[in-house]
Amino acid sequence: MTTLKVSDGLVKDDVLVVGLVSTNTKGGIAIEAGDLAIDSRSLVASLVEMGATGKADEITKIPGGPARLIVFTGLGTKANTYPHEVLRRAAGSAARALAGTSSATFALPVKDIAAVNAIAEGAGLGAYVFNEFRGSTKSDHKLALKSATVYTNFANKAEAKAAIKRATVISKYTHLVRDLVNTPPSHLTPDSFTKKLAASFKSAGGLKAGLKVTILDEKQLKSQGFGGIVGVGQGSANPPRLLHISYTPKTKKVKRFAFVGKGITFDTGGLNLKPGLGMEAMKSDMSGAAAVCAATLAIAELGLPVAIECWAPLAENMPSDTATRPSDIITIFGGKTVEVLNPDAEGRLVLADGLVKAQTSKNKLDGIIDVATLTGAQVVALGTRTSAVMTNNQSFSDSFIAATKETGEQFWPMPLPIELRASLDSPVADLANIGDKNGGMLVAGLFLKEFVSDDLPWLHLDIAGPAYNEAKAHGYTPVGGTGVSMRSLVRLVEQA
Ligand code: BES
Ligand code: MN
Ligand code: ZN
Repeated sequence: MTTLKVSDGLVKDDVLVVGLVSTNTKGGIAIEAGDLAIDSRSLVASLVEMGATGKADEITKIPGGPARLIVFTGLGTKANTYPHEVLRRAAGSAARALAGTSSATFALPVKDIAAVNAIAEGAGLGAYVFNEFRGSTKSDHKLALKSATVYTNFANKAEAKAAIKRATVISKYTHLVRDLVNTPPSHLTPDSFTKKLAASFKSAGGLKAGLKVTILDEKQLKSQGFGGIVGVGQGSANPPRLLHISYTPKTKKVKRFAFVGKGITFDTGGLNLKPGLGMEAMKSDMSGAAAVCAATLAIAELGLPVAIECWAPLAENMPSDTATRPSDIITIFGGKTVEVLNPDAEGRLVLADGLVKAQTSKNKLDGIIDVATLTGAQVVALGTRTSAVMTNNQSFSDSFIAATKETGEQFWPMPLPIELRASLDSPVADLANIGDKNGGMLVAGLFLKEFVSDDLPWLHLDIAGPAYNEAKAHGYTPVGGTGVSMRSLVRLVEQA
């Protein structure tokens, strides 16, 4: 993890990062170094020579200046104030370009404390590499930027220090999500997922921080009636698990949210085997589980005054002689039966168990949120960078969307049209696990809705596209696991 700091003193780091913008004048550019005074005249001349434009995700390096190297990161068009997400992405882009460097000072335009947080977060999120599984070529790969300092006149304020602490926690747990997503299914099974989480649980403060973990194994899942998790996991040699993390803050009489995350450690499609091309991306099918677990640990480490009940149903969806067959009927926890017409629509089955179990909580819940890489239809509808929000409670959804505006994660509200519900009727069971192909993301949402009490505010986040970046790295987002939704869950809880 990158060490994040704040300073208004002499720049002591190896590298100085400043902003570059395009101005109104044709081809004009200007430097935006925030509270740091630098002599920009000769630098601008060199930058023009080099063809720098200041557009987002453009990185230009020039040796010298107050540090060994100045890195210019594009902020787009010159403005009075820059949106926090613009700063976050620009800092992230620079941090990515600085892999192999030990320390950098980020002098970007800071107008408020939230900007300090955004820049620190961008640097922390961008400073990520995943080299765990490189063997003989490990030394060919650079390490992530070790230390990032945000340059600001707010440096001595307690709020600035708090913003840095928060950014450190957000980065740490986003990295945890990415690490889990990037870990291949050879090394991440339902059981090893729980073991990796147990290690992070300790680093988040463990029992002392108000955290508790319980794990159900395949025998307990079977005897207690978790037909969804068992049905999906039964085709695999790596048996399923249900991980439960609870966080109880020191403060009494707090709000209580339940999180449920889809944890398919690999989705082959089961007997409805997926095509080979692109199947490797299905190692990311546990992104929801990773996000809700990491968010819970982050909330505990920040000591936020909201109780969390986090559930991660974990299974590997494999085809075999013991796998669930199309037409098999399973019984979800609580008694609803489901005809499994397509074993590739497995996420909703494990989530149904998780959602019902979460609602048996002794303490009254104020809201329940599930997070899942649930449908290819989500990617068709919204692309790879915008996730979907579905709900039974408009104001809960509105407050989540408001949280995402601050975190910079792109989410968009989607409807749950009642007329699609009948397509999930089964001639032999309470429900079928697939319905109308058109609007497949919404049909999946309607399936889950069957397992949530109408009077409990519920959000369903479909992150199928944004959870895993198969394209080029951009801003603070690397190739592979992105960590999406973790930040917004934490923000929602901060605002509750
Ligand atoms: N894990 C997939 C959804 C997915 C697709 C995630 C692409 C990320 C990228 C899910 O389990 C699945 O296979 N869904 C099916 C549902 C269908 C059979 C109703 C789908 O979307 O094709
Ligand atoms: Mn599937
Ligand atoms: Zn899946």
